[in-house]
Amino acid sequence: AQHQIGYLVGSLSSRSINRILSKALVRLAPDDLAFTEIPIKDLPLYNYDLDADFPPEARDFKAAITASDGILFVSPEYNRSIPGGLKNAIDWGSRPWGQNAFARKPTGIIGASVGGIGTAVMQASMRSVLSFLDAPQMNAPEAYITFRPEVFAEDGEVKDESTATFLRHFVEEYAAFVQRVLAANAPGHI
Ligand code: FNR
Repeated sequence: AQHQIGYLVGSLSSRSINRILSKALVRLAPDDLAFTEIPIKDLPLYNYDLDADFPPEARDFKAAITASDGILFVSPEYNRSIPGGLKNAIDWGSRPWGQNAFARKPTGIIGASVGGIGTAVMQASMRSVLSFLDAPQMNAPEAYITFRPEVFAEDGEVKDESTATFLRHFVEEYAAFVQRVLAANAPGHI
């Protein structure tokens, strides 16, 4: 069966290197995953005063998370942490209390940076957030990408074979992880 994967790009920039990375992953993914970007850029700032009546952007965002079989985060690291726009989106999806849309969703995290650390510190922060939200996370392989324009074309073509092989392995492992978590979530599974 084909699994629906919603992906969140943690950057709001029209020139985001992480959106380019997301395009590369979509191109390299196995056929049993269908990818849809879940946009975050028009979400207002989260405020629990709005819990009783979510604004339409937040309602749509949360419905898209709920409708996805798995969620893939493709994000930069800003100031050694999760970009504010992405954290804001996660906060919307987690609320109101008791209606956390991320619970039991198989998640994956990857990110590209211009620096050598390749978003490692952002990913560590994401892991504690996702743990709190009861979202199963693929632990391995990890993927810390240093973005080089000679490797990634704007349309997501990966021009370096070893990078393409690495990213293909990452999405194949993510597909297998999604399958395992969905099987474990299924009613009747012991
Ligand atoms: C950065 N950048 C950055 N890079 C990094 O590896 N670690 C970091 O902590 C930061 N911090 C940071 C803060 C802010 C506010 C900006 C704008 C940038 C550089 C970052 O890797 C680079 O701008 C990438 O292009 C960001 O990815 P997107 O937004 O292009 O997808």
